[in-house]
Amino acid sequence: MIRLLLLVLGIVAAIGAARSPSLAQSLEVADRGTTKTFTAAQLLTDKAARSIVIADPVYKRTMTYRVIAMADLLRDLKVGSDDYVQARAVDNFSVAIPAALLKAGAFLAIETAAAPWPKLPGGSNATAGPFYIVWQRRPGIDISSEYWAYHLAALTVTDSPAKRWPDLAVGVDIPATDRIHRGLDRFVAVCMACHRFAGAGEGMQGPDLARPMNPVDYFQPEALRKFLRDPKSVRDWPEQKMPAFSEEMLSAADIDAIVAWLAYKAPRR
Ligand code: HEC
Repeated sequence: MIRLLLLVLGIVAAIGAARSPSLAQSLEVADRGTTKTFTAAQLLTDKAARSIVIADPVYKRTMTYRVIAMADLLRDLKVGSDDYVQARAVDNFSVAIPAALLKAGAFLAIETAAAPWPKLPGGSNATAGPFYIVWQRRPGIDISSEYWAYHLAALTVTDSPAKRWPDLAVGVDIPATDRIHRGLDRFVAVCMACHRFAGAGEGMQGPDLARPMNPVDYFQPEALRKFLRDPKSVRDWPEQKMPAFSEEMLSAADIDAIVAWLAYKAPRR
């Protein structure tokens, strides 16, 4: 009986171990022609490595990091002024960040064995490391919370999402002041980290939001807005992965704009 219990506990422990994210031990950095692979140790001995203090919204506290400025990390790559950098995490969370924004204000934080970071808040058993994109706040520049990408595995220079996925675009007949444009911007920055739309995108954690159905076709408008603020306010289960968004990360106007863009993209009835 005890042996059976131990066996069962062993299996449960093995499943638990297999499910905990295996963190990247190296970071891949690529442009359209070359790919380089760096270990944390290599990056930490780079002459550009230094320490900075960051007001960190993920850890919700001030943190000191060993970093390399993104401008230094990307210095030998071919990056056009309109290019984006696709930042992919070990769990396939994948966000496209304008390369110019990244070079102007972001750093790659590197965790050291000598000074490990705290575990991520919210009961996680992992830190944000070993590679994590952090940002220095600059007045007038709004950094989407999705751009603080942790458990980073790869940085790849690519075309802008507008160029890669023209089907997402808003028609020229829609006035520039219409919130549908903002909806597209916020959808690309926030939602596409996990979702694709009619096949467009690199997100793999969540369902495609156009195929087979667009959520505006099966959600009551008010329920969809509630869901986007906090999925658990509509449905709640232990393995649920979609995060809630604070007003700071996604304003009520952003949510309205995203829903307007989704509705604009839904097949006309
Ligand atoms: C960190 C990843 C992540 C982000 C960011 C994210 N989602 Fe999700 N979303 C998911 C996952 C995973 C699911 C599947 C359900 C689950 O496990 O939570 C989901 C489910 C959904 C659903 C389906 C609900 C249903 O029951 O049919 C909708 C609609 C949705 N997301 C919209 C959005 C929109 C719009 C955004 C941007 C504001 C967004 N999501 C951002 C991961 C994410």
